Amino acid sequence: MKVLGIYGSPRTGGNTDMLLDEALKGATDAGAEVSSIRGCDMDIGGCIECGGCDATGECVVDDDMQRVYPLLDEADVIILASPMFFYSMPAQAKALIDRCQAMWCRRLLRSSGEKKPPSRGRGYLIAVGATKGKNLFEGAELVAKYFYDALHMTYEGGLFVRSVEGKADIAKHPDELKRAFELGKDAVLRGPAGADTL
Ligand SMILES: Cc1cc2nc3c(=O)[nH]c(=O)nc-3n(C[C@H](O)[C@H](O)[C@H](O)COP(=O)(O)O)c2cc1C
Repeated sequence: MKVLGIYGSPRTGGNTDMLLDEALKGATDAGAEVSSIRGCDMDIGGCIECGGCDATGECVVDDDMQRVYPLLDEADVIILASPMFFYSMPAQAKALIDRCQAMWCRRLLRSSGEKKPPSRGRGYLIAVGATKGKNLFEGAELVAKYFYDALHMTYEGGLFVRSVEGKADIAKHPDELKRAFELGKDAVLRGPAGADTL
């Protein structure tokens, strides 16, 4: 089983990183083959809506996203981790997500005629923010839901941590780190999603 972790924070070694590190440890512990990417360290521009993917489902923009597409394709489970930036995700993470418009086009091209093929995998969100607001994660959850939809995966929810701001302050919340570990482990122990028909 292949698990892909996407580090969405530009702050290396911060709260998001520490939570995703734990989740990926949990996935490894459960026997998964784990890989990860860090959008901020890659040259990934935002979607330019050129229409280049419309007919083929293949993005024509030549940057590091071309290395990410195969990883997204191969993953049985994806864990996206992100801090809250203005009630959504940092621009770097969002650029990667927007570039999945090509995968959305490909999904539509391949599924024409079929109503609801089964999903090919499962996606999770780990999100952390400084404030306490009830609606803090609503924007990010919608983004995650439709990101996974483009990848033909189901959005499974995840772990949402409020009131954590300083770099690595999540270390003061070992219970949340443990929850992240369990999330990664459980995601693998659930086994593969239904067989993909696309
Ligand atoms: C540009 C920017 C925007 C932010 N916007 C929010 C926000 O809308 N809501 C919130 O609760 N925290 C917000 N924060 C705080 C971060 O989400 C918080 O510090 C988080 O713990 C950072 O995680 P990291 O260490 O993984 O980067 C913002 C921080 C920055 C730098």
